[in-house]
Amino acid sequence: MRSYAALPAANVSGSVLVPGDKSISHRSVMLGGICDGESRIEGFLPSEDCLASMRAMRALGVEIVQSSPASVLVKGVGLHGLRAANDSLDMGNAGTAMRLFTGLLAGQAFDSRLIGDASLSKRPMERVAKPLRQMGAIIETSNGTPPVQIRRAGGLHGIEYAMPVASAQVKSALLLAGLYAHGPTTVIEPAPSRDHSERMLTALGVRMRQSNLRIRLEPPDRLQSCDMRVPGDFSSAAFFLIAGLIGGGTGGLLIHNVGLNPTRMGLLEILRGMGAKIDALDAREAGSEPVADLLVSRSELKGINVPAALVPLAIDEFPALFIAAACASGETLITGAEELRLKESDRIAVMSEGLRALDVEHEAFPDGMRILGRPAGAAFSGGVIDSHGDHRVAMSFAVASLRAAGEIRIRDVANVATSFPGFADLANGAGLRLTES
Ligand code: S3P
Repeated sequence: MRSYAALPAANVSGSVLVPGDKSISHRSVMLGGICDGESRIEGFLPSEDCLASMRAMRALGVEIVQSSPASVLVKGVGLHGLRAANDSLDMGNAGTAMRLFTGLLAGQAFDSRLIGDASLSKRPMERVAKPLRQMGAIIETSNGTPPVQIRRAGGLHGIEYAMPVASAQVKSALLLAGLYAHGPTTVIEPAPSRDHSERMLTALGVRMRQSNLRIRLEPPDRLQSCDMRVPGDFSSAAFFLIAGLIGGGTGGLLIHNVGLNPTRMGLLEILRGMGAKIDALDAREAGSEPVADLLVSRSELKGINVPAALVPLAIDEFPALFIAAACASGETLITGAEELRLKESDRIAVMSEGLRALDVEHEAFPDGMRILGRPAGAAFSGGVIDSHGDHRVAMSFAVASLRAAGEIRIRDVANVATSFPGFADLANGAGLRLTES
């Protein structure tokens, strides 16, 4: 089992370029594959998760040429050009691939079976399967989790669906199924979630109407291919944001080309509320997404009550935020985040176990955590952390080494490659001291 030894370090500085956005990379190969014509994707994230989506599209008959890890040419087969895969489609650890492919394949004229690794096989699928069945899909889950069996249905019809949880994966699965439905599909969100699917579908010529939390998609005749530029992943940048805040040296840390989609910016707002100094420089557009360089300066953080409205906008960043809170003066309170229990691991339980190993005072709740921080000068102990195979837990505790008195050993880190290949090298280049073995 792979592990990190993370030695105490300080003076994080210089500049880093984080890899491409995971959510957008998944969507780029899926949508590119059902376009008419070729799509060139620049900045694709060649991580295990996104490669699972790429392999699945190939198995469904799409030719994809990867001329370099981040440069991909997808030869679209058209909206109705996918064909049955010979075998089960293996989504590995990727919840996004599992949920979005369930939507994409629900309306095809062939059967599909979707499987995943041990972690993915525990994650809820009925949240997607239930509304898809209302659209006419025939889907069986295994007691609510993968494997998922999709049977050829007699055609889907659009529905209006009020989602019980704010989930971009559920929303996107329904919009993808809606491409194949008779009549419009309307999704109503309880709170905003990431809107990459909406932006990309619009760019491919699909008629979408969005007002407040209502998204209405008109089934198109075709999707017109276009070149796609994938910005750096804000969720990967998050580890470097926290590193720069708690361990930054003079001059700060510059993180280049970070996607700043407003539906992903909850962490930035929370950190600024904690007193973080983060400047967005050279704001620009990449494809359909806003991008900037982020200059992060070492900051004395203070604990806050995290506003519940920001939770869905920061959903993947909580493991990193827990480390920031552990380095802040006073108490940080997070509630309304029960979705964290349904991610690659139960992120409340697993982060709590790790914080305990570092002697960080905290209390876990069913829907969040209260953390009593140790501001600069009061280091954590070192310790041994089990990431439980969760990439974001592993990277978060690697960053905690910037405030540790001794070595932090983090077990089970191979899954960092699901979202952030090259993390340890990039972190070491910025001043951390990680050894992987
Ligand atoms: C994602 C949506 C979120 C997020 C995941 C990526 C997406 O999941 O946690 O990492 O790309 O749509 P939920 O939809 O379950 O909140």
